[in-house]
Amino acid sequence: MSRFTGRVAIVTGAAGGIGLAACARFASEGASVVAVDLASADLGAAVAAIEGAGGTALSVPADVTNSAQVAGYVNAAREAFGRVDVLFNNAGIEGTYAPMIEYSEESFDQVIAVNVRGVWLGIKYAAPAMIASGGGSIVNTASVAGLLGSRGISPYSASKHAVAGLTKSAALELATSGVRVNAVCPAPIETRMMRSLEAYIGGDDADDIRKRFAERLPVQRYGEPHEVAALVAFLASDEASYITGSLYPIDGGFTAGR
Ligand SMILES: NC(=O)c1ccc[n+]([C@@H]2O[C@H](COP(=O)([O-])OP(=O)(O)OC[C@H]3O[C@@H](n4cnc5c(N)ncnc54)[C@H](O)[C@@H]3O)[C@@H](O)[C@H]2O)c1
Repeated sequence: MSRFTGRVAIVTGAAGGIGLAACARFASEGASVVAVDLASADLGAAVAAIEGAGGTALSVPADVTNSAQVAGYVNAAREAFGRVDVLFNNAGIEGTYAPMIEYSEESFDQVIAVNVRGVWLGIKYAAPAMIASGGGSIVNTASVAGLLGSRGISPYSASKHAVAGLTKSAALELATSGVRVNAVCPAPIETRMMRSLEAYIGGDDADDIRKRFAERLPVQRYGEPHEVAALVAFLASDEASYITGSLYPIDGGFTAGR
């Protein structure tokens, strides 16, 4: 399939597990991919994934909480490739793990800055570039924690509920401009983020926590980054032309019920 031939996709959090898989997926379907991440030293892996999948890559180190740097990655995409068709607004952090009444203000502010302000700035700066290119598609990464409450990571859960609100509001505001906006809501996916949460909760027993988390999922396993990337690519493509303002769980049945 070449759903993105001649198209330009920006992926934030491109050095992380889900972002890396999305970079490879967009590239394999013909896109030129702009890989954005704060972890500049790790962007080489994203470039390798994009080029390995037959795509053209541009890496842009940027902090998604910084408006000048967000404007910078959008401008870099336009300068290098002349247009912007897709934004996978995916960079995120989990914060620390603690009950709400013990949670630190510093970690709360960091989580909201990256997961909410970062997503908002991405929409704010990428949407005009998409409109200039004749339309486009924004896919935000929310979470099942953006659909349900989550013990121990309340700021993260609040931030992902906010991503849902930004997604729906942006979809309404941009509906007649040819820019669609949707969100994916993954359950646990095999990336650094889950290893971090398992270690916070389990300490030396992180493997037991991982086993317990997996057993709570109807399909009895975590998802793989490439499984999220497949949904993101569909939502970003013209095949999803009538879909905007929607939230898509990708969760092995987790939100289907008990
Ligand atoms: N892994 C899961 O189980 C899971 C489940 C639901 C949602 N998510 C969401 O998926 C997204 C991707 O997470 P992941 O699982 O690939 O984790 P990850 O930690 O592997 O990747 C996150 C990436 O975001 C980057 N990042 C963090 N702060 C940034 C900033 N200020 N500016 C630019 N880049 C920044 C990190 O450097 C990292 O490369 C996140 O939004 C996360 O909340 C993950």
